[in-house]
Amino acid sequence: MSLTIGIDIGGTKVLGGVVADDGTVVTSRLRSTPATDVAAIRGVIVDLVAELRREHEVGAVGIGAAGWIDASRSTVQFAPNLAWRDEPLRELLSAHIDLPIVVENDANVATWAEFRYGAAAEADSAALFTVGTGIGGGIVIDGNLVRGAHGIAAEFGHTLAVPGGRECGCGRHGCLEQYASGNALVRFAKRAATEDPDRATALLKAADNDVDAIDGPMVTEAARGGDPVSIAAFEDIGEYLGEALADIAQLLDPDVIVIGGGVINAGDLLLEPARRRYREALAARSRIDAAVVVPARMGPMAGIVGAADLARR
Ligand code: BGC
Ligand code: NA
Ligand code: ZN
Repeated sequence: MSLTIGIDIGGTKVLGGVVADDGTVVTSRLRSTPATDVAAIRGVIVDLVAELRREHEVGAVGIGAAGWIDASRSTVQFAPNLAWRDEPLRELLSAHIDLPIVVENDANVATWAEFRYGAAAEADSAALFTVGTGIGGGIVIDGNLVRGAHGIAAEFGHTLAVPGGRECGCGRHGCLEQYASGNALVRFAKRAATEDPDRATALLKAADNDVDAIDGPMVTEAARGGDPVSIAAFEDIGEYLGEALADIAQLLDPDVIVIGGGVINAGDLLLEPARRRYREALAARSRIDAAVVVPARMGPMAGIVGAADLARR
């Protein structure tokens, strides 16, 4: 059994684990992400790797990072939701870690995990959307992860959802990430709770009547309990997502489109409106078989499993 380490650096948390070559997570650890301090993010990675290596003999480290990684898989060129700017992450980490290191985009590693072991395991071609702090994307075609000429293929979060819309962390206006991410869910719910507090009693109660304290898990819980404002917030992001799914089906015609990321914990609350809008948006295209839209199966471990597997190759 060959073991490698996978590290997943998201907008709010760093997850690290030791993964076997059959995709099994042998052990894992969770830390919060020091989002504005890149040196601290490196410190967390170095500590996690050292800690995991004390318990297991590993051959390589794969890192999934929430940003735009160059084609040589070493530098984070930009991160819309974290402080990385032209960060030579692989080189900086190599000074402290004497193992081969691969840096990949966080959504690409999750896509790879779903393709190798999860919801797209039966497919030849797949696209994946991660719905979390931001929106990530990944593409597998004929069994290969698509990286693009500059390493940044499949940035689905920064495709256009609303012309002239909200400014995004990437500098563009109207990106999908501003309308269909976990952050967007919370924003829609907060706005509705402010405008119509009488309809949002369950959500407001969870937040101790402090609109600013509303977070994603609260919206999910309240929606599960029937809170109309929270259900409507899922419909809002689900519909934007559904339009984007149709665009991807038109572009790539994959076998399957997988929806992952933290927000997919909400299940049908997100999937139903997304699938409904996807069908509508496919219009005449829906007369022909189109990609099935399925939830991710690897759960929160997708990133570390995919990163660890890519590091092995
Ligand atoms: C970034 C992606 C990343 C995604 C999910 C987006 O804002 O541009 O690179 O995969 O967030 O973390
Ligand atoms: Na990606
Ligand atoms: Zn953007």
